[in-house]
Amino acid sequence: MGSSPDESMMNSGDFGTLEDENDREEFINKLLTLPSRNDWNFPEPLYQYQGFWNFSPYIIGLMLAQKRFQAQPNDIILCSHPKTGPTWLKALAFANVTRSQYDDSTSPLLTKSPHDVVPFIELDAAQGVDNRDLKVPLAATHGPFNSLPTSFRTLGCKIVYICRDPKDAFMSLWHFMTKQIWFPLLSITFEDAFEMFCEGVLVHGPYWEHVLEYWRASLESPEMVLFFKYEDLKTNTSFHVKRLADFMGFAFTPEEEKQGAVDKIIELCSLETLSSLEVNRNGKQRENSMFECRNGLFFRKGKVGDWKSAMTPEMGARLDRIVELKLSGSGLTLSAN
Ligand code: A3P
Repeated sequence: MGSSPDESMMNSGDFGTLEDENDREEFINKLLTLPSRNDWNFPEPLYQYQGFWNFSPYIIGLMLAQKRFQAQPNDIILCSHPKTGPTWLKALAFANVTRSQYDDSTSPLLTKSPHDVVPFIELDAAQGVDNRDLKVPLAATHGPFNSLPTSFRTLGCKIVYICRDPKDAFMSLWHFMTKQIWFPLLSITFEDAFEMFCEGVLVHGPYWEHVLEYWRASLESPEMVLFFKYEDLKTNTSFHVKRLADFMGFAFTPEEEKQGAVDKIIELCSLETLSSLEVNRNGKQRENSMFECRNGLFFRKGKVGDWKSAMTPEMGARLDRIVELKLSGSGLTLSAN
């Protein structure tokens, strides 16, 4: 039985005020039946919902999305575990699907964060579809495949998933966490956080289960689920940007390719371009909620193998072994180096 969730945290999300009191009561009651753990020494525990750990505001947001989010038939949903590259994926997907409306000098990506041009269903679901720009058929989630709102599946919406070497994902997550306004509330060291990652008890964890759900779905239904690795996108960006465009139904014409449309999108969405923009230097996400953060935090090094800057070779080898074992028989490998 879970311990009681902290009331101030449960109200701290940006998913609306849960005006529907019946939903609110139903979700809280459900939450209280979930397994919980507080190894992170946070004011409230992590709860395990549908196989994955998270804080109550996120889980309630996901429950709300599962109950209320109504997908459109042409929606494309961009899915990821945090810190595996969704900022880049959102920018690339948005630039792709809007390229007949905007070019690299008029794109909303010049004045808005990639996170502000694609709705995040767990945190925006309370607003329903009415507030969405339906000309942009994109939505995003950190939710696991088996927890997606059923309308995505019944409508056969396309899904794009991005993942990354777990060692780099952990490093990126650690840097991101330490810059959060709530981080001082945690009493956890880098080594302890690594232990929790290896155990799978972290926000959206276990990481490998998240990846596996989408991997299996991509094998079963390749026409529905496109599976990316961040490292592949870095190594052969042009090939994968075209692959993304083809899959989404926005293939580049030979004429567009000749005129450099692919390269322009790559340049607009590069770490260098996006991180230098005013909105991404000084703008903020979800102010006055526990999800508040500076847009700049989404852009750091973007380096494959950055785990070596803080993890020992032993830590890296240990995490590799754990993940290898978890993925064995799946045909998937995640260790990039
Ligand atoms: P690092 O922390 O390793 O630098 P997320 O999108 O899940 O928040 O992931 C953030 C990671 O993607 C960060 O990795 C960040 O630097 C990198 N990233 C963000 N925007 C990028 C872009 N346009 N191109 C390549 N990498 C990007």
